[in-house]
This record gives sequence, structure tokens and C-alpha cells, in this order.
Amino acid sequence: MPLTENQDLNEKTRLPRHIAIIMDGNGRWAEQRGMERIRGHFEGAKAVERISRFAADELKISYLTLFAFSTENWKRPSAEVRGLIDLLFDYLKKEPDELQKRNVRLRFIGRLDDFHENIREEINKAINNSQENSGLQLTVALSYGGRQEILQAVQAISDEVSAGSLTLEEAESFDEEDFRAFFYAPDLPDPDIIIRTGGEQRISNFFLWQAANAFFWSTSTLWPDFRESDLQDAIKAYQMQH
Ligand code: IPE
Ligand code: IPE
Ligand code: MG
Repeated sequence: MPLTENQDLNEKTRLPRHIAIIMDGNGRWAEQRGMERIRGHFEGAKAVERISRFAADELKISYLTLFAFSTENWKRPSAEVRGLIDLLFDYLKKEPDELQKRNVRLRFIGRLDDFHENIREEINKAINNSQENSGLQLTVALSYGGRQEILQAVQAISDEVSAGSLTLEEAESFDEEDFRAFFYAPDLPDPDIIIRTGGEQRISNFFLWQAANAFFWSTSTLWPDFRESDLQDAIKAYQMQH
């Protein structure tokens, strides 16, 4: 990637602070080639490495969030769910060195309790090992649903009121910032751009609250085919609107 092009991107207008991606189209990528869907997820994992490397090293943006597995995705055939979890496990085992080298801080949002203990252990290790890194903050949404995130915030607030650590008056006077303090990653700023690959123009229960002012960019490119230049196209489209 010629550096001048990136400088161009930086200089023309503001670089987005936070890009979020709904990584869709792995299954179709494989089916088009007569392969098992899991092969598409395997190729999708390579795109994750490629795009997070580019975001960290070249674009130097502050936040990248990847929607990897939704609360609805548990309804997929169990072999596919198992295959996806195996890929996640491999990623967690092998990626930390790479992230360390690139100064990337890895975080997760979602209902992590839905995962088996050995996965949760690897998730916690990856979080702890990278928490001091000051470069790109890479957030992976796992068993994530926007509705569930809002609902669990309401439940957490009512639990605090019941426990007496929050008064009813305090809860009643909550503003948006007070409310978001109960989200999975309260300090994560709202995304400037939400990209969806695979051609659908749906939000699919992603970042419902956080999407309020985001620029939505959909591309027919399937996630395993998504390249650095596609990310640059999304940024250019965003900059045209700002
Ligand atoms: C997105 O690809 C990845 C996950 C949801 C885990 P899909 O598996 O949804 O691929 P398509 O949409 O069927 O092509
Ligand atoms: C959205 O893709 C979820 C993720 C990318 C993790 P899906 O393929 O699951 O969404 P729908 O079924 O098209 O809404
Ligand atoms: Mg899909």
C-alpha cells in the first residue's frame, strides 16, 4: 500500500476514530466454491488478521470493532458453531504475539458467559496480556446482541437499586452517559463508520445504541475477499459526507 495514499486519506479530512465491521459473507464465499461453510470462516479469519494489521500499522486509527458472532448465531447448526469456536480458540492461542508486536489492545464485548470455561480463560489471558498496549484498541464482539446489551444494562441498574448501591432517585435522573456506563465497554466511543460486507443492508442487532449517528457503508464484497483498499474506500465515502 503506497504510504502517500494513506497520507492523502489523513490529510484530506478527518480520519475516523472508530470503525466497526459486520463481517458477513463467509458462508457464501465457501458455497460459491463448492466448499464447506467453515472454509469460508477460515478465510474470514485471515481477513481479520489482514484488516486489523492494516488498521493498526498503516491507518493508525484508535478503535476497530469486529462483529464476529451474534447472539442469534447460536441457532446455526451445531457443527458450524463448533467450527467457529475452534477458529476463535486458534486465534486466541496464536494472535497474542502478533498483537503485542503491533501494540494492539484486545477487548471483547458480548455475553462471554455463554462460552465454555476454557474459551473464557483464553479470552481473559488475551485481555490481560494486551491491556497495557497503547496502539489500536481491537474489540471483538462475541455472542453480542445490541438488544441484549441494553437489556442487561437495565437489569444491572435495577440490581444496584435493589442492593442499595444506587438510589431510585439517582437511577431516575440518569442521562445517556450514566446509562452507557452499564454497557459491556462503557469507554468505547460510538463508531464513526459501520461497515457491512456481503451486500446486506441490515444492522442485525449490532450496536443498536452506539449506531445512533454512525455512517453506514455496505459493500457486496464478501468478508474473505475484503482487502485494505476496501477499507480505504469506506473511509473515503465517510469523508465525503463530513
Ligand atoms: C458471517 O458470515 C460470519 C458469521 C456470522 C459468524 P456468514 O456465515 O453469515 O456468511 P453468509 O452470510 O452465510 O454468506
Ligand atoms: C451478522 O451476520 C452477524 C455477524 C457478522 C457476526 P449474520 O449473517 O448472522 O446476520 P443475518 O442473519 O444476515 O441478519
Ligand atoms: Mg450472514
